[in-house]
Amino acid sequence: MPYKIPQLIPYVGKEELENLKKVIANQWLTEGPFTEEFVSLIKDVTGAKYALPVTNGTMALFLAVLSLGIGPGDEVIVPDFTFIASATSVHFAGARPVFCDVTDDTFTIDTDKLEERITEKTKAIMPVHVYGQSADMAPVLQMARAHNLTVIEDAAQGFGVFYNNKHTGTLGDVGMISFFADKTITTGEGAVILTNREDVYERAKLIRNQGRSSSGVFIHPALGMNFRMTDLQSAIGVAQIKKFNEIKRLKSRNYALYRRELSGVKELKFLEEVSHSNLVPFRTNVLAEDKEDLCKHLEENGIQTRSFFFPLHRQPCFNFLGYREEEFPVSNRGFEQGLSLPVYCGLQKKDILNICSRIKEHYGY
Ligand SMILES: Cc1ncc(COP(=O)(O)O)c(C=O)c1O
Repeated sequence: MPYKIPQLIPYVGKEELENLKKVIANQWLTEGPFTEEFVSLIKDVTGAKYALPVTNGTMALFLAVLSLGIGPGDEVIVPDFTFIASATSVHFAGARPVFCDVTDDTFTIDTDKLEERITEKTKAIMPVHVYGQSADMAPVLQMARAHNLTVIEDAAQGFGVFYNNKHTGTLGDVGMISFFADKTITTGEGAVILTNREDVYERAKLIRNQGRSSSGVFIHPALGMNFRMTDLQSAIGVAQIKKFNEIKRLKSRNYALYRRELSGVKELKFLEEVSHSNLVPFRTNVLAEDKEDLCKHLEENGIQTRSFFFPLHRQPCFNFLGYREEEFPVSNRGFEQGLSLPVYCGLQKKDILNICSRIKEHYGY
């Protein structure tokens, strides 16, 4: 059944189309003028010293891990509650992802449980900024300093999200933001690596472009691959980044309406809004003890829901790591109770009121 209200519709239109036409007219499809402009705009928003466009967020994480020289024999601490790519990027670099439980306010890494995960093989901590808020970075950075570890920030969902006054992805040694179609701004597929460290930038730059300093040269001083973007993606990205304030305004307006309409529904719990971060709503994320039943009711009424992440320690592909379920009570609860409702820009007031009435009807209000 096609959904009456889908989980997501990207906010793209005539501005993106105009830019794409310019790329075609220009007949330069690989990284070119739009990529240069996109990178410059990203640096303006994030304040990062260096920004490198990348094929997608998964490859950006992989490149981030490689750019720190992390590989076989090393361990990287990753929150148990995240998208699979946070951990597979570590695995494919030859290192071992070590899972840590998360906090029940923002579902980001629980820094009280971090130290017990550190071994002599640990090389990095990877906080993940999920659902439009920042992880609590001060204790992460302090722990990293105390144990001589690097910090890789997965800010895939963190465009426009600041920890105190610093943009997510710029607080650690290296970070990344994804521009996949469901992200705050999108290029379809795409991502950017952020760093303030020149050595990390130089290494990432070499690896992303076949181990050479510029294209069109066939001597490769280093081993590398192709992680580059295209000017078609960047053309969309430039239009998107210029619309960011409007995107944030519309999503925040939609989110506020949900909060108002559902404030009396005691069966639902919204994720907490923490003081160390602003919120750029990624979805409308709530916890419900009867998540399965509620999702079924909404889906039967043409409203597309989405579950929270399936904990990494329970992923079939990570069985070989041998974790026990009781080590991750919060991450397990997130999956069991968490669901996302749509918050996309084009969502109408009547759609949100409809969703909220269906929820109230489900609980007999
Ligand atoms: C937390 C997190 N990390 C990494 C990624 C991977 O990004 P991409 O889909 O661009 O490969 C995503 C995207 O879904 C994500 O949500």
